[in-house]
Amino acid sequence: GRRVLTGITTSGTPHLGNYVGAIRPAIDASRQDAVESFFFLADYHALIKCDDPQRVRRSRLEIAATWLACGLDADRVVFYRQSDIREIPELTWLLTCVTAKGLLNRAHAYKAAVDQNLAGGEDADAGVTAGLYMYPVLMAADILAFNAHRVPVGRDQIQHIEMARDIAQRFNHLHGAAYRAASGSDREPFVLPEAVIDESVATLPGLDGRKMSKSYDNTIPLFEGGVRHLRESIARIVTDSRAPGEPKNPDGSHLFAIYRAFASAGEAQALHAALTGGLAWGEAKRILFERVESEIAPMRERYDTLIARPDTLEDILRHGADKARAVAAPFVAHLRDAVGLSDFR
Ligand code: TYM
Repeated sequence: GRRVLTGITTSGTPHLGNYVGAIRPAIDASRQDAVESFFFLADYHALIKCDDPQRVRRSRLEIAATWLACGLDADRVVFYRQSDIREIPELTWLLTCVTAKGLLNRAHAYKAAVDQNLAGGEDADAGVTAGLYMYPVLMAADILAFNAHRVPVGRDQIQHIEMARDIAQRFNHLHGAAYRAASGSDREPFVLPEAVIDESVATLPGLDGRKMSKSYDNTIPLFEGGVRHLRESIARIVTDSRAPGEPKNPDGSHLFAIYRAFASAGEAQALHAALTGGLAWGEAKRILFERVESEIAPMRERYDTLIARPDTLEDILRHGADKARAVAAPFVAHLRDAVGLSDFR
């Protein structure tokens, strides 16, 4: 069978970018026959960006409730917390030891931190933790522990998936033969994972037109704050100063880009024509709000119920962790054997 896997970092409140970039395509993929899905809360990754335990705790609850509210079927999908799978940090170390340091020097997130430091006249690595530097290896372990084939993500994650492929290839090359001997199988230890990008929404812009992101504080939360907050956020989307009646350029508008991520091709064409014909921005915002709200309103009801039931969420995630470990534990045991960490007997 084909394996689909994706995760969300538990350092903030889920927003429309997470939904259209990862949650919606992942849940769609999980409904196909013959697909095994692994969806998880990347709570070890959260510690890289966030040293506020309250925030991490709250975010884990919000993201757990969000996945389920959006239609994840916990009986069909393996749904778990990264930090419940002790094979992941174990595999992270095995992978760390075959990963070129130079590869990690080229990671976007690390490079951005260095560039910012240098621009500010600081030491290149000022304030950079080893956790930030190692981020791509932990992410490779997330994917490779389950030998996932396909990883639905937004465009910002492509480089990480490419690095996971590089690391997998290196491990296969060094330890493939020993793995085959240890496991009695005739295949490579790791499948090379591929990113699955929904091209119509590859990067959803936020209120100010930059990528919608917790770090830019330009997000539209998916459920938190309720329908009122959704309406107010959409009202704050920055538009150009063209007045009602003046023709607008939809292709340069992030309001239109957000609409396209929710609308059918026909609906998008209709709004495109209306804006070109001079539709007022205020009216376009109303249309966008109605469209988003009609898709997420039923989910928000489920979200509000789930977020008030941490015990239920805990049970679901523990059960998911058992299922996930049943897959990862025997596999990582073979990998340990392959690198030489086997029993003496
Ligand atoms: P994170 O938590 O930043 O984002 C979760 C998912 O949402 C997507 N996304 C977007 N997609 C489109 N437009 C946007 N504006 C937007 N903002 C966020 C992200 O691309 C991502 O798919 N490192 C990952 C979490 C992770 C992971 C993994 C993912 C850890 N291990 C293994 C896949 C496989 C992250 O921080 O995503």
